[in-house]
Formats: sequence, structure tokens, C-alpha cells
Amino acid sequence: MTDSNRLPPEKDPITGVETTGHEWDGLKELNNPAPRWWVLVWLVTIVWSVGYWVVYPAWPTLSGHTEGKWGWTQYKELEASQADIKARQQAYLDRFEGASFEQIMQDPELYKFAVAGGNAAFKDNCATCHGTGAAGGLGYPNLNDDDWIWGGTLEEIYATLRYGIRSAHPQTRQSAMPAFGKDGVLTAEDVNAVTDYVLTLSGAAQKPSHEKGMTVYAENCAACHGEQGKGLREFGAPNLTDAIWLYGGERAQVYNTVFNAHAGMMPAWEGRLDPNTIRQLAVYVHALGGGEKSAPVEAPAP
Ligand code: HEC
Ligand code: HEC
Repeated sequence: MTDSNRLPPEKDPITGVETTGHEWDGLKELNNPAPRWWVLVWLVTIVWSVGYWVVYPAWPTLSGHTEGKWGWTQYKELEASQADIKARQQAYLDRFEGASFEQIMQDPELYKFAVAGGNAAFKDNCATCHGTGAAGGLGYPNLNDDDWIWGGTLEEIYATLRYGIRSAHPQTRQSAMPAFGKDGVLTAEDVNAVTDYVLTLSGAAQKPSHEKGMTVYAENCAACHGEQGKGLREFGAPNLTDAIWLYGGERAQVYNTVFNAHAGMMPAWEGRLDPNTIRQLAVYVHALGGGEKSAPVEAPAP
């Protein structure tokens, strides 16, 4: 019998309670029952947890988890809060939908709504190409400056966004600069001369071939870029006099542009984004700094 080997439990002389036999530096642990309030709280939590399992999704099952009597999920909660946001936006959207650009510009509330919506849509759809701050990069225009290839009024920006540039849309903005060198339209000598001439338009010093370059320019380039090189928006032909370069202003870069030509492509957003979002984006891009007044639309003098 093992019990017979054991000493009888020691009793604390002061309280008369048995000790557990645990002792630290002379302090002995008494074998008191857990306090009643503690036991009660413990039992309540057990009952609570049983209720919780029934009401909320809790137990893993082979097909996922128990659904819970109330069918609560975080997704449903998210949906509800999104529906709430939508409802609040709808009040603005209803007004925005019917408003002309002119009305939007004159209504501070609608304007703010458009810029905020445009800002969010820009980060989602445009920043990949134009950069988060819309500063662009080689081949992707900076949208912060007031240098516009296709036009900077709200209507023109809207059309650019809606139809795209050299996109698959039937109404796309379209134009193509010939690859003067590659396609043999000009000799390499002509391309060199006209490259140097183009560089003088934004301040570079004249080369001995200046006269020749000027003639080549007048005969081959002025039709699209204008006699003075100020660009023509009908053709999406950039201004060559402003030292803002879509494809780089180093001599080698300009030579390459003239020799091989570029054809930047931007997708059409009609059909991908709803009309309200495209309008919000137009207002946002216009607000970035370089937006132009709608009327009268002034084409730069050729
Ligand atoms: C796939 C890359 C790409 C994406 C995405 C893109 N763009 Fe562009 N975007 C371009 C290119 C390239 C051009 C220049 C085309 C050219 O050479 O004329 C351009 C031109 C523009 C222009 C004309 C600028 C001017 O000077 O006339 C505007 C405005 C513009 N983008 C706005 C946007 C907005 C707003 C979005 C988002 C809805 C967007 N872009 C998304 C590539 C892109
Ligand atoms: C049919 C119209 C057309 C003709 C003709 C034309 N260009 Fe262009 N040029 C364009 C277009 C459009 C672009 C912009 C291409 C793009 O956005 O991808 C352009 C772009 C350029 C650029 C790049 C500008 C920049 O900001 O990087 C240079 C430089 C240029 N052209 C020079 C010339 C020269 C020099 C000639 C004559 C030898 C010429 N172009 C003839 C339409 C034309």
C-alpha cells in the first residue's frame, strides 16, 4: 500500500489548513480551495463560450467552419460598411452625373469630390505608367506641367482619357511620325542636320549645317510640328521649342527619335472605367497644375 508510506498531510498551525507540501524558503503553500467568486466567473466563461460556439462561426469542419446561428461574418460587416459609404457617395454622384465640367468647376463641393475620386482612380489605373506623382518618365508625359501634347482643357483631357492615344478605340487619338532614317525618307546626313536644327529651337548653338537643317525641317517636319516648332495638337506633335522632352533631349536621343520615330500608346478608358470616374480623372489631371481654361481653345501659333 503506497499510502501507508506517506506521512500524514502537514497542517498549518495558525490556520489549521493542510499544506500542499510545496515550500519556498520556509514559506509553505496552503491547500485552500479556489475562492468562490473565481470559480463562479470560471463557470460563467464556460457557459459563455458554449453560447458563443452556437451563435458565431467557431469550429473548424471539413468544409470550412461552423456558420453560427447568427450567420455573422467579417465580410458581411465589410459589405454593410461599404454600402454605407456608397450611399453617402451616391448623394454626390447623383449631382456629379448630371453636371457639366463648368458646373463642377464652379461648385466647390463637387470639385472636391471629383479631385478626391480622381486621385484615388489615378493611383489605381494611371500611376503604373505616369508615376504616383504624375511626373511621368521617358515616353510617358509629365501631367503636372502646362505642356500638353493633345490639349489641356477639361474637354480635351476627357477625350484623351476616353478614347486613348493610338489605342484600339475607333475614336482614338491617332498620328504617326515617319521613321525618317529607318524608312529611308531622309539620308543620315539630313537627319543629323535636322537634329542639330531642332536642338537650336530650344537654345542650342547653331552648327555649320544650320541652313540645311532648316530646309529639311521646313520640308519634312513643319507640317506636324509647326513652322516655328511650337507643335500641333491635332497631330499630337510635341512642341520642340520648350526644352520639355518626351523622349529625351540629349542629341543622341533626339537623333534616335528622328531616325526611328516613336509612337507612344495609351489605352482607352471608356468601357474599363465608368464615365463618372473618367470625368473625375479629367478634373484631377486638370487640377495637377497645368490645366487650361476651356474657351477659347487656343491652338499654339504655328
Ligand atoms: C500603359 C501606360 C499608360 C497608362 C496606364 C496610362 N497612360 Fe496616359 N499616357 C501614356 C502615354 C505613353 C502617353 C503619351 C502618348 C503620346 O505619345 O502621345 C499618355 C498620355 C496621356 C495624356 C495626354 C498628355 C498630353 O500632354 O496631352 C493624359 C492626359 C494621360 N495620359 C492621362 C492618363 C490617365 C488619367 C491615366 C489613367 C486613367 C493614364 N493616362 C494611364 C501611357 C499610359
Ligand atoms: C506626321 C506628323 C509628324 C511629322 C511629319 C514629324 N513629326 Fe516629329 N513627332 C510627331 C509626333 C506625333 C510625335 C510624338 C510621338 C509620340 O508621342 O510618341 C513626334 C515627336 C517628335 C520628337 C520628340 C519630341 C519629344 O518631346 O521628345 C522630335 C524630336 C520630333 N518629333 C522631330 C521631328 C522632326 C525633326 C521631323 C522632321 C524630320 C518630324 N518630327 C516630323 C509627328 C510628326
